[in-house]
Amino acid sequence: MGNFKIQPSNFRTIPNHRVMADLAQTVMERIEALGQISEEQGRLTRTYGSAAMRRANDLAGSWMREAEMETRQDAVGNLIGHYARRGQETGDRSQEKGAEQKILLLGSHLDTVRDAGKFDGPLGVLTAIACVEELRASERRLPFALEVVGFADEEGVRFHTGYLGSKALAGGLSEEDLKRKDATGVTLAQAISSFGGRPEALEGARLDPKRLLGFVEVHIEQGPVLEQKHLAVGVVSAIAGQTRVKLTSTGRAGHAGATPMDLRRDALCAAAEFVLAAEKLAQSRNGLVATVGEITALPGASNVIPGEARLSLDVRHAEDAVRQAAMEELENRAAAIAAQRKVSVDWQHVHQTAAVRCDRRLSALLGEAVKRHQPELVLLPSGAGHDAAAMAAVTPVAMLFVRCKGGLSHHPEESASVEDVRVAIAVMNDFIQLVAQDA
Ligand code: GLV
Ligand code: MN
Ligand code: MN
Repeated sequence: MGNFKIQPSNFRTIPNHRVMADLAQTVMERIEALGQISEEQGRLTRTYGSAAMRRANDLAGSWMREAEMETRQDAVGNLIGHYARRGQETGDRSQEKGAEQKILLLGSHLDTVRDAGKFDGPLGVLTAIACVEELRASERRLPFALEVVGFADEEGVRFHTGYLGSKALAGGLSEEDLKRKDATGVTLAQAISSFGGRPEALEGARLDPKRLLGFVEVHIEQGPVLEQKHLAVGVVSAIAGQTRVKLTSTGRAGHAGATPMDLRRDALCAAAEFVLAAEKLAQSRNGLVATVGEITALPGASNVIPGEARLSLDVRHAEDAVRQAAMEELENRAAAIAAQRKVSVDWQHVHQTAAVRCDRRLSALLGEAVKRHQPELVLLPSGAGHDAAAMAAVTPVAMLFVRCKGGLSHHPEESASVEDVRVAIAVMNDFIQLVAQDA
């Protein structure tokens, strides 16, 4: 024998006396491994259709297969692992009749923002795989199948629109979406094909709502509430609606030295005035957030007055009416600034989702599971967008938030503790059993 030692903290005995690794520790190790898969050197960036996404899908797929899931990639590139114990004595007689089993969907996304943290998305995929692993090892049986989804695009970095993966499963991708172009002119349809998907077969990716019991997503909170309350996890009540717009301001380029200030039509100055107007409006409305996260000045030289400025605008609120009123005001404001500065402005909606309320029954079961593992249950809204918002079009959704350090997210220092991940897995294991009892 060599000197191999089992670390007691990393292994435990489960009811059938098999010894398995600490699943929370495994999740943390896998988060680190996925965090190394990037399309940019020195920082984590994994956008839709990239070689990095391919590698992330391959790696996550191998972990699914280790947990005895059958894996597939759908027409848009979502990775899906299916787990159903064959020949089970479940009380669910549908298998005997050859009917298809119902499915409880779990998961989150595998793409990231630019210079991302490692937890946003992968935590939900990896905790879901851990739940399947636990189920397989314990040999408990369920009256439904579990499917774990690694969505191919939630952040919308490449095509400026979120939820491409979940929208495909929910049947919400349109012909217009397929014509969207990335910064290099590649259309979404082309990107889907080169990622191994089939843009012509997206209808086939749509899940049958009749087969679904729901979609449940574990995600880092991305805010400070759980940390302030000293709680590991919380249940999400609703997901804020969001609108994304692409604005192009067009003036006239000219010589930076030879054009007097009063004769300029500077597109970037108009854009800058709009950025501050958006900030001011959001500051004046309770709960409204507005962000300009990208700005490009063209032609882009220090001695040329910008003739064109392109910017992104992202506006969110938990109430759709407040967001919609703000969008109207901002569009009017952009037009007024443009008129005053003698530039033109093009206002293009690229993404819009309504606020979504999480399902009462699934959230109650999730809350019951949470109460078994921590002294207090908190319900909290999500300002961030999530695949659950798109999935709500076809099935009831619920979400479990996990405390994140400093409330920090979309940042390389984003982090959650192994202890909290352990609580999240335990809650999800209990939740799955509660759904089974309630089915
Ligand atoms: C996704 O993280 C979003 O809220 O934009
Ligand atoms: Mn996310
Ligand atoms: Mn995100």
